[in-house]
Amino acid sequence: MTSTLLHRPDAPTEPDAPVMAAIVQDRYGPPESLRPATVPRPVVGPDQVLVAVHAAGIDRGTWHLATGRPYVARLAGIGLRRPKNRVAGRDVAGRVVAVGDGVSRFAAGDEVFGIAEGSFATYAVADADKLALRPAAVAVEAAAVAATSGITALQALTEVGRLAPGQRVLVIGASGGVGTFAVQLAKALGAGRVTAVAGTANAELVRAIGADEVIDHRREHIDARSDRYDLVVDIGGRNPLRRLLRVLAPTGTLVIVGGEGGNRVTGGAGRQLRGLLLSPFVRPRLTAFISREHHESMDALARHLADGSVVPAIGARWDLAQVPAALRALESGVTSGKSLVLVDDTDADPATA
Ligand SMILES: NC(=O)c1ccc[n+]([C@@H]2O[C@H](COP(=O)([O-])OP(=O)(O)OC[C@H]3O[C@@H](n4cnc5c(N)ncnc54)[C@H](OP(=O)(O)O)[C@@H]3O)[C@@H](O)[C@H]2O)c1
Repeated sequence: MTSTLLHRPDAPTEPDAPVMAAIVQDRYGPPESLRPATVPRPVVGPDQVLVAVHAAGIDRGTWHLATGRPYVARLAGIGLRRPKNRVAGRDVAGRVVAVGDGVSRFAAGDEVFGIAEGSFATYAVADADKLALRPAAVAVEAAAVAATSGITALQALTEVGRLAPGQRVLVIGASGGVGTFAVQLAKALGAGRVTAVAGTANAELVRAIGADEVIDHRREHIDARSDRYDLVVDIGGRNPLRRLLRVLAPTGTLVIVGGEGGNRVTGGAGRQLRGLLLSPFVRPRLTAFISREHHESMDALARHLADGSVVPAIGARWDLAQVPAALRALESGVTSGKSLVLVDDTDADPATA
């Protein structure tokens, strides 16, 4: 695999201003509307860090940002008519090359991972608060795919789901980006039994990352057995609320993380809303949330990666120029775990990469 980019000069730049290779999006549209280009290298703000990108990760959020769907997301601030951030990509791992005046947690030369605005590029700017040091034992590739999905899974289980040791946990959408972290984190945090809901092709994957039991959503509904769960983390998003209620223990908690399959306007958000509205009238706690991107969660995730309790499941590897194809693969549901985008040619850390 080569990470050579075939790109053409793009926006006019000052003579001698540093430029970089990137995947840009000038309008919302299908994955193919993203394209390689040469663009000005970003400049750090006071609380930001400039990272030379080794590798990036792909998640559902990146697909939403590229397509502008569901439309309600545009109202939420991603850009009304076109993407606010021209360079695509969020998950990142790389080396710090510059820091803003207000940054004390990082210095040039640090190896970091986290969430940037525009990680499908050879350089990306990130808020310092959204980065963590990459532990020496953690490979660049593993770190690159970890941040967005890892902190979402962590917050779903802990801050929102209040997981207690010994509890029975159901993870719906266990084979995807967030789900593969959720299964491993649930086990690491002491869940008594973790049941994973995944498609037939991914049953082995979810068992391999620690699920005690698998429900194949292509053959069986989640309420077909008499099992009840203390915590249901719904990432897959196709089950109606009434079915989710049926599998909750009387004092159980439902955490709706997301879900595709809704309409173009609201996506799966209707279930979240209905769950929140219904919660005061039923005994189980029904919750939904948007993950908060901050360094406390990043540092906690880094500790799980460092001690090996979480090993990111990398499903597919792509070059920078292949990002449109990678997003198309995510959209069609053929990928599992997290997809990796290799950005630089140099091996950042031969011992661990
Ligand atoms: N709340 C937040 O802050 C937050 C943060 C991140 C993501 N999200 C949302 O969470 C959702 C998942 O994100 P992701 O990155 O994990 O996506 P992903 O990698 O595409 O994974 C989607 C998962 O859904 C599963 N699935 C598909 N059809 C299903 C069905 N009928 N029943 C149960 N599961 C089914 C897939 O399983 P199989 O392939 O095995 O069928 C796969 O495991 C998205 O809607 C995303 O926008 C929310």
